[in-house]
Amino acid sequence: MTPTSKDRVKIFDTTLRDGEQSPGATMTHAEKLEIASMLDEMGVDIIEAGFPIASDGDFEAVRDIAKLSREATICGLARANLTDIDRCWEAVREAKRPRIHTFIGTSPLHRAIPNLTMDEMAERIHQTVSHARNLCEDVQWSPMDATRTEWDYLKRVVEIAIKAGATTINIPDTVGYTAPVESADLIRRLIANVDGAENVTFATHCHNDLGMATANALAAVDGGARQIECTINGLGERAGNTALEEVVMAMRVRGDIMPYETGVDTTKIMAISRRVATVSGFQVQPNKAIVGKNAFAHESGIHQDGMLKNAETFEIMRPSDIGLAETSLVMGKHSGRAALRAKLKDLGHDLGDNQLKDVFVRFKALADRKKEVYDEDLIALMSDASVEAGNEHLKVKFLRVICGTEAPQSADLTLTVNGVDHQVTATGDGPVDATFNAVKQIFPHNARLQLYQVHAVTEGTDAQATVSVRMEEDGRIVTGQSADTDTVVASAKAYVSALNRLVVRREKVGSDRKEVSYKDVG
Ligand code: KIV
Ligand code: ZN
Repeated sequence: MTPTSKDRVKIFDTTLRDGEQSPGATMTHAEKLEIASMLDEMGVDIIEAGFPIASDGDFEAVRDIAKLSREATICGLARANLTDIDRCWEAVREAKRPRIHTFIGTSPLHRAIPNLTMDEMAERIHQTVSHARNLCEDVQWSPMDATRTEWDYLKRVVEIAIKAGATTINIPDTVGYTAPVESADLIRRLIANVDGAENVTFATHCHNDLGMATANALAAVDGGARQIECTINGLGERAGNTALEEVVMAMRVRGDIMPYETGVDTTKIMAISRRVATVSGFQVQPNKAIVGKNAFAHESGIHQDGMLKNAETFEIMRPSDIGLAETSLVMGKHSGRAALRAKLKDLGHDLGDNQLKDVFVRFKALADRKKEVYDEDLIALMSDASVEAGNEHLKVKFLRVICGTEAPQSADLTLTVNGVDHQVTATGDGPVDATFNAVKQIFPHNARLQLYQVHAVTEGTDAQATVSVRMEEDGRIVTGQSADTDTVVASAKAYVSALNRLVVRREKVGSDRKEVSYKDVG
């Protein structure tokens, strides 16, 4: 190892907790395990795997992630009550490195919810952090809405948490209110004024409501924070959290003014970004920093000319730094199974023999329809295959639509429901509407379509379309995705895939996530 004078900043990933809290981003158990394994593999220091008290499903996911963990610390979230903390400990205790993260809202607005006086809340913090510390060596404490908490009270409660045994103090900007200069200043003041500050790690947890989450997190590091809380693709409620890929790459590219290092293998960024986009159903915007489709695309003539002469003229980092292949033209219909397996591994999908067999059949069908198969096509193909895996109560067997200038447009659909074929013809306002009406005739439901989005995966008229849908039924939000060279077929499959997820959610109704109330106390 080469000696380095750079300070180490720990990366705490909360994609599976704060990210998954985003309405509609719910992941299956298997998907959570897969993302956790990728995070561990890429060198993330701490994985916040979930909120064990929220549901049996959350508990089981945290417990299984803990059992399978290798290097990363596995953390669970708990409100400031003993039941939450005990449940959290049950979930994380088998990790190689377990952590309990307990929190309470300390700002005036948040104190009003459980209706605690300042003194009562201070007492509660002491009691719950001590309890957590009696169970676990590694305890993180967060004063939720810290950036809107009165300075004197914040200082007081942070000192109490440290005395009670917290080893990490996280300072959340819960509503994305703070600005970089304040973010740095707050951490600096806490470190300078809090008794016992030298014995703990200060962490920063920023939300992106004003688009400043990355800047605020980096400013906090400048102020002395040595742990950044973040999510892949900036996933998270409302405008999301600090994006892991942004802070990690910023510290790497601008090491001259931010002399910090992380343990993250940046070449694994692209693969996990794509996987999180697929399993969460939240597509990455094309112009998103680092992982957007256009982040390394140079359209203008001047840029292209400069790039050809010397890539550094317009590139501050190389695509390969984040694991993006230089060329994305990959395969055609003569490519074999071994080549497909190797290519998919590069893209972050390590397939077993059975899954490869299924994907290979889909790949061949695609290669027959499409001259050139790009990385993006394979990624879309994988999102399709994995969404359907194991959850196929409903399956599109046959679809033919009549569309054009003459109404009514109609869809002739055969849908397999639990192994039995059903056929209908339905009309609608356009071919997609007709198709969705046909699905609804065969499989009546009350789910409301909240979002319908179509993306062209690559260029050209033979490009695949990726369709994403989001649906809501009785507060349960599910997403579905599918890709096909035929947009209406992709739409039908995406719609059906969301319904498949809904069926699974209905079956687990007893174990669905409860709306955890902050009265209990958060
Ligand atoms: O944003 C926030 O305050 C949180 C806490 C639970 C740490 O996510
Ligand atoms: Zn948060």
